[in-house]
Amino acid sequence: MPLLNLKNQALALISQTVSGQELAQLRIAFLGRKGQLNQVFKKLDKVNYGRQFNETKQAIESALTERQTQLTGTTAEWFDLTAPGQLPPLGHLHPISQAIAEIQRIFEHLGFTRVRYPEVDWDHYVFEALNMPADHPARDEWETIFIDAPAHPKLGQMVLTTHTSNGQVREMERVKKPPIRMLNLGKCYRRQQDPTHTIMFHQFEGLVVDKGISIPHLKGTLDYFGRQWFGPKIKSRIRPFHFQFTEPSFEVDMACVFCDQKGCRVCKNAGWLEMGGAGMVNQFVFESAGYVRNEWQGFAFGFGIDRLAMLKYHINDIRLLTGGDMRFLKQF
Ligand code: PHE
Repeated sequence: MPLLNLKNQALALISQTVSGQELAQLRIAFLGRKGQLNQVFKKLDKVNYGRQFNETKQAIESALTERQTQLTGTTAEWFDLTAPGQLPPLGHLHPISQAIAEIQRIFEHLGFTRVRYPEVDWDHYVFEALNMPADHPARDEWETIFIDAPAHPKLGQMVLTTHTSNGQVREMERVKKPPIRMLNLGKCYRRQQDPTHTIMFHQFEGLVVDKGISIPHLKGTLDYFGRQWFGPKIKSRIRPFHFQFTEPSFEVDMACVFCDQKGCRVCKNAGWLEMGGAGMVNQFVFESAGYVRNEWQGFAFGFGIDRLAMLKYHINDIRLLTGGDMRFLKQF
C-alpha cells in the first residue's frame, strides 16, 4: 500500500542524512508541491484514506524536524562557530628574560639607554682597546673561546665575547661626543662549567662618560641599582681590585640576601656576595676610542645577570636556568 511504503522510505532516508542540505532536498522530494506525497494524494481514495494520509504527512514532517535538531545538535558539539578561540599555550617568560626587563627598567630611570653590541666580536674590542694586549697576563682571567676564522688585519681574531665591556669602545666610537649613559646587555662566554658557572651567561655593562664624573657617582648608581633589585634595606660596598680598563678599579659586593650578613654557606661566612666589577674608565680606553686623553671622565661596571637572578629568586643551581623544565620555570 503506497502510503505506508512512502512513509517507511521517507523515514529511512531522513535517518541517513548527514547535512541540513540533504534534509532540505528530502523535504522537497516528499512534501514539495510536486513531491511524492502530493502524487499519491491525487489518486487517493480520500474518504477512506484521508486520515492515514494526514498521519503520514505529519510523521514525515516530524521526522524531518527531529533529524534537523539532531544534525545541528551534533554539529555544535564539535564545531561551534561562535565559541571564542582557544589561546595556544605560550609557555612562560624565562626568569632571565624577566630579570633583563627589570634591569633595563631600573636603569632607564637613571637615563641609561639600552644598546646591543656583538656577542661575537674582534679581539680588539674585547681586549686590545681595553688595555689588554695579546701577551698580557690579565687576559688569563677571561677563559676565552676563540673563533677558528681568518683574523682581521687590524682588529685581530674573532672571539665569543667574554664580557660586555666590548661595548665600551664601540659605544664611544658611535657617540663620538659624550655625554654617554649606556646599558649594554648581552650573552658572554667563558670556558667554565660548575653549579655556579656556565659556558654561556649574561652580563650587563654600564658606561657613563661626561665632564666631572667621579667615584661617588659610581657608588650612588650601584647603590640605587642594589636597592631597586634587592629591596630598600640592601647594603653594598666597593672594594679595591684590578682591571686593566679602569683606574681605580673595584669589586662590588652586596650584603648576603640569604643570611642577612650573619654568615652562611652561600656567602662562605663573609656576609657579602660579589656582584661584579667596576671602576673609573682608564684614559687609555678613551684614547682607544679616539678621544683626547684627560678630556673626559667616566665610570663603568659589569654585573652577571644569571647570578643576580639566582640570588633574588633563591635558585641554587645555575644549570636549572638552561634545563628547560617547565615545572621549574613556572615558579617565577
Ligand atoms: N668586564 C668585567 C668582568 O667581566 C667587569 C667590569 C666591567 C669591570 C666594567 C670594570 C668595569 O669581570
